Formats: sequence, C-alpha cells, structure tokens
Amino acid sequence: MVYIPVDYLKSGMVLARDVYTAIGGNPLLAKGQVIKEINISKLKHFNINGVYIESSFSSDVQMIPMIDDKLKTESLIQIKSAFKNFNKTGKILASSIKALMEVAQALVDNILMNDEILINIIDLKGYDDYTYQHSLSVAIIAVSIGTKMGLSKSLLIQLALSGLLHDLGKLSVPKVILNKPDRLTDKEYQIIKQHPETAIKQLERNKMISPIVIQGILTHHERYDGNGYPKNLSGNNIPLFGRILAIADVFDALTSNRPYRKAVFANEAVEYMMGNALILFDYEVLHAFLKVVVAYQVGMIVTLSNGEKAMVVKNNEENTLRPVVRLIRKNELESTDIDLLNNQDYLNVTIVGMGYDDDSAELCFT
Ligand SMILES: [Fe+2]
Repeated sequence: MVYIPVDYLKSGMVLARDVYTAIGGNPLLAKGQVIKEINISKLKHFNINGVYIESSFSSDVQMIPMIDDKLKTESLIQIKSAFKNFNKTGKILASSIKALMEVAQALVDNILMNDEILINIIDLKGYDDYTYQHSLSVAIIAVSIGTKMGLSKSLLIQLALSGLLHDLGKLSVPKVILNKPDRLTDKEYQIIKQHPETAIKQLERNKMISPIVIQGILTHHERYDGNGYPKNLSGNNIPLFGRILAIADVFDALTSNRPYRKAVFANEAVEYMMGNALILFDYEVLHAFLKVVVAYQVGMIVTLSNGEKAMVVKNNEENTLRPVVRLIRKNELESTDIDLLNNQDYLNVTIVGMGYDDDSAELCFT
C-alpha cells in the first residue's frame, strides 16, 4: 500500500483500507473500492487529508495500527457519550467516569501489547468530530510517551484518563469562538483560557478521580518557559502529567485540520516541537516523544537530499527521522530498500520533505 494525499488521488485507484468519518458508523469508503471522482470530492468534503491505496510496488508493505480499530471506535463512542452528558447536564456523571476509566485501562493494555510503540498520527485521524478524536489521540500519545519514560502501569492508566478529559472544559466555550476562522479577540482568548479550570471545577467533585489526573488537566496549557496558562508555572513546577499532555496536545492539534488552518505533515510538526525544546516543552519529555512519534509514516513518498524519490517502508524505533525507504526508480524490475539508519552509502543522505507529484500516482497503477 501507499499513502496518497487527496490532492494526488486519481480515478481508478483502489483503496487499501476502510475510511471512516462517523463514530461507530459504517465506513465512508470501503477497502477494495475503486475510487471515482465523486469519492475524491467526498473525501475533500470530510476534510480527509489522504488515504492508503493498493500498489504492486509496495504490496508487501502493511500499515499495522498501534490501536485496534474496534477499540478505537468503542473508545470514541464512550468519549462522545460522556461529553454529550456533560453538555446536557453541566455535570460529569459517575457512570461516565467509570466508562472512561475502562477506556483508559483498555488503551494502556493495547499500547503495552505492541512490540514497538510508534505513533502513526494518520491512523488517529479521519473522524469528523475533532473534540472526541483529539481527546482520544492525546490520551494515546501521552501513554506512548509515558511508557517510554518508564511510568508504571497504574500511572499510565491515570495519564490516559487525564488525556481523555483534558479538554472537557472546552465544551463550555461557545462554538463560534472555538471554530472561529479568524484571529481571536482578547476577550475571546480569555474565555478559551478558562477551559482547564472549568473542567476541574466539575471533576474535583468526583472522588474516583485522583489529584494527579486533575493536575494534568489543569496544567496542560502551562509552558516550560512560564508563558502558559492558567498559572504561568514554569520548568519542573509544572506537574509531569501537564508536561506530557502539553506535547501530546500540541502535536495532535498541529497535525489536525482546524477551521483556522490546515493540518501539517507529522515531520513538520516534529520539527516545530524540536525547535521549542525548553521554550514550550520539557526536554526529557520531548526526548521520549521523539522516540515514539513517527515523523515519516509507512507508505509516504518522500524526497531524499540526493534528489531521489522513495517510499517509507519501515520505521526505525531508534530514530524515526531515518526510516527504511524503497527507492522509486523507473524501469527497474527489482525494488531497492535502503535503511537510512545503517546503510553506509546513505549516511549523508537525509529526507528533505514529501515527494508527491503527478508521477507518484503512477505507482498505484503498476
Ligand atoms: Fe486545552
């Protein structure tokens, strides 16, 4: 399979994975379907950035999701139900907390089952409701970071719960402000900045939620240099959960389509995060994040610094900036895979960016 951004899709390509938009619903498009122009318009309508397409060039390459599709759907259903109840009653019900704790436990069990923990952010996208999807993604990214940092299983479950609930307070912010395509006024920004405290006012009443979970939610917008909110905490005065959630939150937001900007590719988001070490983010947490995040996802077409085009076929856990790639060479019968981490001839060759052009589409028809 090969990952093709929507702008490069062509009629006749065959989908290699189901595409979902509605939580718990049928797929928008099913695996095996031959794509037509109308499907491409539909994908654009649902803000889907790209899809996996069958290709004989890479028929041996599979994208194995870190989180089981069924668990992902069930988790989203529980998050949606808890948040809807909160919206209706203004309270977080004990039954919602219990359900989300079960989700947290199942996510941690699933993540720990993997041989390698590698976050493929594309796999966490697609559903049309940002709030629920973002809550789940932040929990998954946070637990992946926490695992790399050696946190105990019981702490990881608390961290997952903190991630699931981190933006609960945003439900109290009017949608016109949350989804405003233009710059926010000072007054609007002040309203948004209240969301961590709004959430904890409700959550503190529930004795099932531990203080460490509350602290994470309250401090997920604090920044390492002290320029965050609500309390302008800095450095290690920000609780560990807050420092982890900050990274998970920013990375997921940058790689998501928002009303005010388009999603960026994971590698661009990773660069942004690295550039903000010790400014916005804690170095130790960022270091763990860089070990679990995939900058170039399997199936993506990239350009190398020597001018060659290649497709990512496997990630190296030690350094996701240097994956194994398959060179795209015209008129070559045998494919050549290069491990950018270990191949002596390619030690000075780097990935310089995405390599999509009209020729990439040809890979899907060979
Ligand atoms: Fe937030």
